[in-house]
Amino acid sequence: MTSNSFDIWRDQQLEEIEKFLTKHLANPRNRLNKLSEAMSYAVLDGGKRIRPLLVMAAGGVFDASKNGLVYVASAVELIHCYSLVHDDMPCMDDDDLRRGRKTVHKKYNDATALLVGDALQSLAFGLLADEYNGLSDHVKLKLVCELSNASGINGMAGGQFLDLEFVGRNASRAELEEMHSMKTGALLAACVQMGAATGSATQEEYAEPLRRYSSALGLGFQVVDDILDATATTDTLGKTAGKDAKNSKPTFVTVLGMEASREIADDLERQARAAAKELPREGGYLIDLVDVVFNRDF
Ligand code: IPE
Ligand code: IPE
Ligand code: MG
Ligand code: MG
Ligand code: MG
Repeated sequence: MTSNSFDIWRDQQLEEIEKFLTKHLANPRNRLNKLSEAMSYAVLDGGKRIRPLLVMAAGGVFDASKNGLVYVASAVELIHCYSLVHDDMPCMDDDDLRRGRKTVHKKYNDATALLVGDALQSLAFGLLADEYNGLSDHVKLKLVCELSNASGINGMAGGQFLDLEFVGRNASRAELEEMHSMKTGALLAACVQMGAATGSATQEEYAEPLRRYSSALGLGFQVVDDILDATATTDTLGKTAGKDAKNSKPTFVTVLGMEASREIADDLERQARAAAKELPREGGYLIDLVDVVFNRDF
């Protein structure tokens, strides 16, 4: 169970990130009001913000500066929000509901949704390179590489492509693991690596547990998402429940069954917890985030 100090810490981080995102999404050009408004609609006042919290927690473990971390955490959340906007479009999962409200293409239109995603992605990389983030050029380059690898063809975008390729056919466990680790795991893993990279240079020593924590949590997150799609309600999720089966997607649940999926999630949870304990401060809030990811209502 999450601790009281974690709850206080989380509320503080979320408030700061929301303020930062609000400021950086504002665009004063009148002719662009509609696009700017749609970008804010896609990002603000919604979501669990697991990715920014992972960045802040990993950074905290490695003594990163708070100012730099808020830039990095917000950059990853922008990439995530862009991926959701595109994921919901008719040419992908065709969803009407996200974070308890209309999806961006439903509220605006397809072209706006496409451009919202494009612009959020650019803004994300801009934040990593921003002159006010206080990070060294060396760290900035590392962060840009990490985020572009995690969100590109070998990460999120590639995984999303595989997800669509698999529609209507069966997949092996190895194929599912690869697809999930790419479409979802890569960005979550990048949060941990980027938070650590924003902090002290001693992390080489911890490369192995960081990698194990990241990959178990990253894959586990999507296994839990698959389970929730089949077990939770649309109200709880804020997105359409049962959509995977409806869209003929092979998922951990449809391919391996509910019981096996829960066992796999439990095993990944144990792996993530054990790896976190090997980090400085016994993983700090990274341990609490294992609870948040794996102990959702299912
Ligand atoms: C949903 O991510 C998409 C997946 C990668 C499974 P989240 O469950 O983190 O969505 P929000 O940000 O809380 O809305
Ligand atoms: C989405 O996976 C992964 C992304 C990169 C957005 P899903 O398609 O399962 O996510 P939800 O269930 O729509 O949030
Ligand atoms: Mg999808
Ligand atoms: Mg989807
Ligand atoms: Mg899903």
